[in-house]
Amino acid sequence: MTLEEKIGQLNLPTSGDITTGQANSSNIAKKIEEGKVGGLFNIKSVQKIKEVQKIAVERSRLKIPLLFGMDVIHGYETTFPIPLGLSCTWDMNLIKRSAQIAAHEASADGINWTFSPMVDISRDPRWGRISEGSGEDPYLGSQIAKAMVSGYQGDDLMKNNTILSCVKHFALYGAPEAGRDYNTVDMSKIRMYNDYLPPYKAAVDAGTASVMASFNEIDGIPATGNKWLLTDLLRKDWGFKGFVVTDYTGINEMTDHGMGDLQTVSALALNAGVEMDMVGEGFLTTLQKSLAEGKVTIAQIDRAVTLILNAKYDLGLFHDPYKYCDTNRAKTEIFTSAHRNEARKIAAESLVLLKNEGQLLPLKKSGTIALIGPLAEAKENMAGTWSVATKQENSISLFNGMKSVVSNSAKILYAKGSNLDYDAAYEERATMFGKTLHRDQRTNEQLLAEALQIANQSDVIVAALGESAEMSGESSSRTNLEIPKAQKDLLQQLIKTGKPVVLVLFDGRPLVITEENKAVPAILNVWFPGSEAGYAIADVLFGDVNPSGKLSATFPRSVGQVPIYYAAKNTGRPLGNKQGNFEKFRSNYLDERNEPLFPFGFGLSYTAFKYSNLRLSANTMKSNDKLQAFVDVTNTGNFDGKEVVQLYIRDLVGSVTRPIKELKGFKKISLKKGETQTVSFEITVEDLKFYNSDLQFVAEPGRFQLFIGTNSDTTDKIEFDLVN
Ligand code: IFM
Repeated sequence: MTLEEKIGQLNLPTSGDITTGQANSSNIAKKIEEGKVGGLFNIKSVQKIKEVQKIAVERSRLKIPLLFGMDVIHGYETTFPIPLGLSCTWDMNLIKRSAQIAAHEASADGINWTFSPMVDISRDPRWGRISEGSGEDPYLGSQIAKAMVSGYQGDDLMKNNTILSCVKHFALYGAPEAGRDYNTVDMSKIRMYNDYLPPYKAAVDAGTASVMASFNEIDGIPATGNKWLLTDLLRKDWGFKGFVVTDYTGINEMTDHGMGDLQTVSALALNAGVEMDMVGEGFLTTLQKSLAEGKVTIAQIDRAVTLILNAKYDLGLFHDPYKYCDTNRAKTEIFTSAHRNEARKIAAESLVLLKNEGQLLPLKKSGTIALIGPLAEAKENMAGTWSVATKQENSISLFNGMKSVVSNSAKILYAKGSNLDYDAAYEERATMFGKTLHRDQRTNEQLLAEALQIANQSDVIVAALGESAEMSGESSSRTNLEIPKAQKDLLQQLIKTGKPVVLVLFDGRPLVITEENKAVPAILNVWFPGSEAGYAIADVLFGDVNPSGKLSATFPRSVGQVPIYYAAKNTGRPLGNKQGNFEKFRSNYLDERNEPLFPFGFGLSYTAFKYSNLRLSANTMKSNDKLQAFVDVTNTGNFDGKEVVQLYIRDLVGSVTRPIKELKGFKKISLKKGETQTVSFEITVEDLKFYNSDLQFVAEPGRFQLFIGTNSDTTDKIEFDLVN
């Protein structure tokens, strides 16, 4: 390989336009022919990909096939809930299955690399990208990271329905100051190691083929140029064997971070441990010069090329560069009814029932139901953020889902009620991705009048409100976490009719719904459930599926509580009372209680579960022992149901301060009405370990509390000692 050809392999341009692909645009085609491209991303359709691959393997000198990447984040054309929603299933088999189906469909359309999973822990719902991750908890996040990687990659990348995964955004991208996307990140190493790094490590341990560097800085050095992060930690400590790609123009952006000109930052990135340059062409345009000037070495360039070529070998592209270009597969294996049925089931499991006073839900399949709200008939909003391959027109709206599930046995009347209230910024981004947003020309007053008319004829109102899909995701941070104003006003008017109101809440983040929670009897939080949204929500609303989703991120009472998470520290001045009364010189607010509106792990069912008889196999353990914890769970309600049984541990005394509770296990069980199951967990010393101030992963002898319950607020506990 010539030096130019080597550097070419490190270059990852975008195809330009996600929907049309511009596959054969002369500029890119020429570069591919000249051996200046290693991969291309966000080009959709097997035909276009085949054409481009042909240029690489037939017209370039070395005939090296290209990688084809895409943001296949929560499904391909069959779309699953946004990742935050998926994580609320707490079901690793379903999550893995969603990734398998995504890989299956993407690979049938020519894609061999997905920029997923996104495993950034976030405890700040102002940050719009909280929607793309698995919430606030490192333990749950790590299980999900593992499930996703193995779902995408399977056990053999040589198969034609498995693809490379890319864990992102390495690292700490979910903790920008003030929740503003791309903002500075600054955190202690203790917090980093204990709370933020575990899911990335879990993905590396699961064998992810690639890692994407994040936009933010870490300890004052942007991740893209951070040698400690990309070499010392990722390669040396964790033993990562794949390749590192930057985020979109991540190298160039180091200039704005204040790290130097393009040549300097490109050399910085290569020296730090980056192998592939997404879009910015810093490598392509400056590495030769840097080599001549001794700023990088040929060994570093060779290392990078080798890792890119290895990935292509692992995929079997040298054996058959067209192995993902089977047009027949593209016709028959994408958006199939089998995949859609699975997506419907998975989506139903992701919905979280937040309130159900007087057992208003499930609804009867009879009488007259007024379905009101701008999200009731909004197909374009069902799939949520980063659903680039979804065909919005195929998504099932709530109106259609409800009509299908009740058939002719109930009358469903629909009115929009208000506009969504999104502004120009959201529209701009949506159009950028080839999506359409339908702005209604009618005023909110006109829409309201129509809504009240059908509300007054109904037995019950279902209000479909919340965020539009583009209000979360990249570059969609918010300072106000409430439902948009026009919709809040609509809800008030609907409540005034005196009819019972069920709030079906669409959102890409935990919202502040303190007022709504006081005002309506039932709230079903549905996130953005994917292409089968309407069916899945209707299945739950009418009781064909009993809800079992549990929150993976805390819902605050007010935005001023943010960042908020269950695994907080006790502090030296914890609040003594649980009533929320203000106490001077204690850690609390003058104007708000400390507790969230809904804690991590929370979610109701149509049935009820009773926990009893929490017990341990012993009350001391040595470091090589295994302790068993047991609890009896009884379904005391009137429906069969599923429950996520959650185990938390508190380390009472440590060499560094420890959280008041940490999730260390969970099991999702099914219980028939009246049934009791004994659920058991095994605790080993690994579950008691944490990173101390020397960043050693240790378990310290002493007393521990163990809690098992239905959410992170559980107080039912038992104690044991770890002894030498
Ligand atoms: O994969 C994404 C990343 O999450 C954000 N920036 C753009 C990348 C490629 O589309």
